Amino acid sequence: MINTIIANFKMNKTESEVKDYLMTFLPRYEGKVDLTLCLPFTALHVGRYLCQGHDIRLGAQNISDEEEGRCTGEISGRMLKDSGVDFVIVGHSERRKKFKEDSKIINKKIKSALKNGIGVILCVGESLAERNTLKTFETLRDQLESALKGLYENELERIVVAYEPIWAIGTGKTPTAKEIGQAVKEIRRVIADDFSKNASENIKVVYGGSIDSKNVKQFTGCKNLDGFLIGGACLEPNNFLKIISLC
Ligand code: PGA
Repeated sequence: MINTIIANFKMNKTESEVKDYLMTFLPRYEGKVDLTLCLPFTALHVGRYLCQGHDIRLGAQNISDEEEGRCTGEISGRMLKDSGVDFVIVGHSERRKKFKEDSKIINKKIKSALKNGIGVILCVGESLAERNTLKTFETLRDQLESALKGLYENELERIVVAYEPIWAIGTGKTPTAKEIGQAVKEIRRVIADDFSKNASENIKVVYGGSIDSKNVKQFTGCKNLDGFLIGGACLEPNNFLKIISLC
């Protein structure tokens, strides 16, 4: 059942633009889903301030894999927690590719987030080449197993897995509802193999990649799916509200 919506603002909107966004969004948001807004770092403060009293979680889009010290330009888990952050996105394909984040770094980032009391939105997904060579499931298994290595089963309660096929991100292309259902099933199978059946049934799994107000209805009936991670289509508040109302 769809009850989780995560907005990924990526590197869009200044602090004052996020303020304007929230002034439009918040009075019209009816709170019918579990909503997390992953804002740019520079807008976390205004986000925290304006979302007070609303049932909305604050998310960040990155976290350092180190705890403290000589890491110029990085933001630690402790800093994020103190800024009111509830969730952080880890393993997004844009960071895997552009910033060369490998599975070791992703694993460290997840552990740092959890240690600091921050939930994790873990992105996994295959490239077009992997899809075309029928390696989607293999890729999902590899990415999940390396990311979750060394975690305790109870820590999965603070993790949301986002299935984000790389070829669907920002492209206007999506898998079919059936394909998403199969990928979600595989993600749960990996969790069942490595942790337990109970954990695999309880872990939240969302889909991300080119979701918008025109196509979201095709996926709301997706079996085993808990929600969506929305990038481009969250950036205009009324459009985002429309998507939420369709869920
Ligand atoms: P998109 O991005 O909705 O713009 O495709 C999703 C994401 O990258 O999280």
